[in-house]
Amino acid sequence: MLKGRNLIEPMDLSVEELDEIFDLAEEIIKKPSEYSNICAGNLLATLFFEPSTRTRFSFEAAMLKLGGKVIGFSEPTSSSIAKGESIADTVRTVSCYADIIVMRHPKEGAPRIGAMVSEVPIINAGDGGHQHPTQTLTDLLTIRALKGGFSNLTIGLCGDLKFGRTVHSLMKALSRYENITFILISPKELVIPDYVRKEVLNKNGVKYEEVRKIEEVIHKLDILYMTRVQKERFFNEEDYVRLKDHYILDNEKMSLAREDMIVMHPLPRVNEIAVEVDNDPRAVYFKQAKYGMYVRMALIIKLLGLR
Ligand code: CP
Repeated sequence: MLKGRNLIEPMDLSVEELDEIFDLAEEIIKKPSEYSNICAGNLLATLFFEPSTRTRFSFEAAMLKLGGKVIGFSEPTSSSIAKGESIADTVRTVSCYADIIVMRHPKEGAPRIGAMVSEVPIINAGDGGHQHPTQTLTDLLTIRALKGGFSNLTIGLCGDLKFGRTVHSLMKALSRYENITFILISPKELVIPDYVRKEVLNKNGVKYEEVRKIEEVIHKLDILYMTRVQKERFFNEEDYVRLKDHYILDNEKMSLAREDMIVMHPLPRVNEIAVEVDNDPRAVYFKQAKYGMYVRMALIIKLLGLR
């Protein structure tokens, strides 16, 4: 039963619950008109303490397409946070008005604090370098729709594996499926954190290798998941400038990949995928952004208990 639950990290949902959400998302894709009024009378609040395009707009579009309404801020200085109000008091207050709250915050754990005081479901829309569970739902629905399932996949994760919360969440979620292999492609300064290595990979006996170059491994991959080097998480500009263009996926590298490999990216991209790759049918990152809206529609319906 998903009604009334929070979504703070991907493991809050069992494999069976994920399937329920994906089944509903696929049903909405097939018959959108049947769901166009299901959330009438419900209000979604978006509390974004950090910039966003996809997550905020896709949640807002999702609620509006379901017949619900939306309130919120994308700039916390326009709320009483600017006067020193705490996260807990802000969330507690908004939960008096809204039926469901989506929250992004630069501090790890902030949505969990919100969930402790909220009267309505809280969805973590990204907390610092920690987790981004609805991006994981987006990624998993994309993989299910385009690769037919989650087992027996070799997935290359490339770029900023240290700060990339989408990568941490996705690895955690995929580690529950059969015969997954991760190939971790990053500069040595941006390798996965030790806690992911211990608690996700080693604990679940997941196969993985770590390499420095895309060209060495791209031919082995079912999925290449590119990520941006995240300027906002660096402590000094010099390190960011040195590492930001470390990986650039272009048509030359794509020519080494299999015909059925797909390229995913949570977006926004900066330089890590050359624009020329966008026309390659294996580049699915904009499709992925669209799946994100459908999976958020399904999630809203489930947490509100409307199906
Ligand atoms: N993928 C993602 O979280 O994008 P935004 O930062 O634009 O929401």
